[in-house]
Amino acid sequence: MKIKFVEYGPVAGEALMAIAVLMFEGPALSEAAEALDSQTGGAVSRAAAGRFKGAKGQSLELVAPANLHASHLLLIGAGPQDAFDAAAAEAAGAEAYKTLKLSGVTTLELRFNAAPELLARAAFGAKLASYRFDKYLTKEKPEKKPSITHLRIAAADAKTAKAAFAPLEALADGVAFTRDLVSEPANILYPAEFARRVKALERLGLEVEILGEAEMTKLGMGSLLGVGQGSARDSKLAVIQWLGAKDKTAQPIAFVGKGVCFDSGGISIKPADGMEDMKWDMGGAGAVAGLMYALAARKAKANVVGILGLVENMPDGNAQRPGDIVTSMSGQTIEVINTDAEGRLVLADALWYCQDRFKPRFMVDLATLTGAIIIALGNDYAGLFSNNDDLSGALLKAGAAEGENLWRMPMPPQYDKMLDTLAADMKNIGGRAGGSITAALFIQRFVNGLPWAHLDIAGAAWKKPSTNPAIPDGATGFGVRLLNRLVAEGYED
Ligand code: BES
Ligand code: ZN
Ligand code: ZN
Repeated sequence: MKIKFVEYGPVAGEALMAIAVLMFEGPALSEAAEALDSQTGGAVSRAAAGRFKGAKGQSLELVAPANLHASHLLLIGAGPQDAFDAAAAEAAGAEAYKTLKLSGVTTLELRFNAAPELLARAAFGAKLASYRFDKYLTKEKPEKKPSITHLRIAAADAKTAKAAFAPLEALADGVAFTRDLVSEPANILYPAEFARRVKALERLGLEVEILGEAEMTKLGMGSLLGVGQGSARDSKLAVIQWLGAKDKTAQPIAFVGKGVCFDSGGISIKPADGMEDMKWDMGGAGAVAGLMYALAARKAKANVVGILGLVENMPDGNAQRPGDIVTSMSGQTIEVINTDAEGRLVLADALWYCQDRFKPRFMVDLATLTGAIIIALGNDYAGLFSNNDDLSGALLKAGAAEGENLWRMPMPPQYDKMLDTLAADMKNIGGRAGGSITAALFIQRFVNGLPWAHLDIAGAAWKKPSTNPAIPDGATGFGVRLLNRLVAEGYED
């Protein structure tokens, strides 16, 4: 979809074109709605006389209104006028796109009479809503394909609005990169292919190193390597750096992602029903990759490291067995009681490597780690676990601002004992009770005192049906926006 900011003027109508205007709760006509109302001889106010009240999420379509060279006029409910903020603008843009995407119109013009920043956010919402993973649809009926190819945003100051959109466009591209990775099936996106796609981001100015199994063996990453041992695909570790700060040697911040390209459970194999969902068990790594994409694309003034632990968890004759004891890079030994609790084994080595090599100011890991977090929080909240109140506060705030909600979970020290075992320093599962918490406590054993947070995004990475117009069904891209804001608000020069 081509996106263009144009100077606000009289409607330049076209045959297959929709004009979207805001209706505030009351309902109250926005300035553009008012103008179109008089142009169409009162069509807008007549249409809005029914149950349409201008509430958020409501919309009303007028087809072929008189005296207007446009096929559709769309009234978007925008909520109370004095509460029309960035989030409301984004929702309005997304709602407009979503409502009209199958209508046949090729151009959508947003006439929102709002500040340039809000217009940019409306365009951002529409762009996010236009995401689609359709590369494997070879026989789709034309009427199922979205028709909108051009988005036009009318602005009193088009130049300023366009400039405000630039970083948001980079962010939306980062989110789309994540959604693509998460949507890809595991026969296409295995660790080496994931690594290739990340390596290709060097074109944006990122530095990308890919470590293979030989290098990881040398580093002593027995915990990560044990997970990939039963797979025909080699494990990889991607190390991504964005050095955007004035001082390229300034201490970085770091993000680490669980990248299990497919989680069959291994020898502790999962039930067949729903196992296909485990193609998105790399959602944490996908989010970190999308974040690095966005930071580079908008040239963030910060030094940021992204580390992805890329493996496939499969059962074969060489696979790790329940009861196996592995030695992690930290030197700590782990008894693998359940091979399906593999994400924490991957993170143990990825986090250790990260702090050992980069000594970051803090580390945040993202992982589709436990089914238990879905039971606890559903799909609209990710679990936040942390050893640091300041970092937690910043994450909660950034998440709330971006509509990517977190809920802080406890990490009671007495639960940590559930990981003790006879023959090794720890075992990799606690028990059914508090499953997300013992998983976090396991990971914490590989954090060497620095501020750290763990986001369990098992529920948030994928949603169907979606309840947010800016997020189509499927891969959400959860985490990219949240972490991008965390960086922007706290860690740029
Ligand atoms: N990848 C799963 C967690 C998961 C489940 C993500 C459902 C998304 C949807 C993880 O590797 C796993 O299998 N966890 C186990 C842990 C258990 C064996 C202690 C779980 O949650 O059941
Ligand atoms: Zn698993
Ligand atoms: Zn998993």
